[in-house]
Order: sequence, then C-alpha cells, then structure tokens
Amino acid sequence: MKAMYPGSFDPITYGHLDVIQRALKIFDELWVVVMVNPKKKPLLPLERRLELIRELFENEPRVHVDNHDGLLVEYAKNRNIKIIVRGLRAVTDFQYELEMAIANKHLWPELETVFLMTDERYSFLSSSLVREVASMGGDVSRWVPANVLEALKELYGKGVL
Ligand code: PNS
Repeated sequence: MKAMYPGSFDPITYGHLDVIQRALKIFDELWVVVMVNPKKKPLLPLERRLELIRELFENEPRVHVDNHDGLLVEYAKNRNIKIIVRGLRAVTDFQYELEMAIANKHLWPELETVFLMTDERYSFLSSSLVREVASMGGDVSRWVPANVLEALKELYGKGVL
C-alpha cells in the first residue's frame, strides 16, 4: 500500500526522518511531498528543501520525493494515494491536525489521515525550533542530519555549530 507524507520540511529534521522510517514499516511506498503551507513563510527555498530530502533517501527506492503547490487532496487524487501520514507530538498539535484531517476528508472522502506518535526523543523538536536556534548561532547538530546542518551554515554563516 502507498501513502504520502506531506509537510513544509523547512528544514527536514530527525523527527521527520523518524516518522518516515516508521511509516516504511507500515506502507510499501511513501511519497514525501514538500508542500506550501499558506500560514508559513519558508526559510529555505523549495528547491533546496527538495534537494536535502532527495540526498537523504537516494538509496531508499521506496521513498519518492516530490513537491506540490496547491491542495493536498489534488496531489493525492492525481496519484491515487489515499493515506496521509502525519506525525503527532504534543497535544498542541492536535487541534491543527484535526482541522486539516477533517478539511481534507471533506474535500476527498476516500482519504484517511494516519498519525504516528512522535518518538519521545523528538517530542519537543520542530523545524521552527531548529530555525530559531540556528539563526542565533546555536548548535542544532543533534536535531538535523549533516547535509541540513551544512545548508543552515551556508545560510547563517559559521556561527551555526
Ligand atoms: O509541515 P507543515 O507546515 O505542518 O505541513 C502543512 C501542510 C503543508 C501539509 C499543509 O499546510 C497543506 O496541506 N498545505 C497544502 C494546502 C492544502 O491542501 N490545504 C488544505 C488542508 S487544510
């Protein structure tokens, strides 16, 4: 069975990678789709975010990396993917995720959203936290893979450890 894991991935973190690895135990193929969140202004350009994710999964043929500018259901319908995977951390994620899951189901009733509970190691981790710490020169190396660290260094200079 195939599923899709949509998100902003700005940047991709170990929390996202954990969700992807666990989703691969459940689904045969996973489409990681970088999408536009109209509520957020991205830090990394779309192409850079895609490139970083592609590098991480170049040896994993079951992961497909793509992007879509538009409705999530549009992409899902076009590819006939009926399962959305999302990670769930604290209770603060719940309202936002519920709203999206219900909206998407209204738009395409065949769609199901499946939530994977965060691994406790990453329960506090978010891309926005990584962006904030990196922008102020803090060490984010325990939260993001090496290629993402490099991308953040390029952006913020040598201050990022
Ligand atoms: O990583 P994020 O920012 O929490 O991901 C949110 C995302 C990109 C999945 C969401 O904003 C989205 O689906 N955007 C595409 C537009 C869309 O379909 N909106 C309707 C769903 S409520």
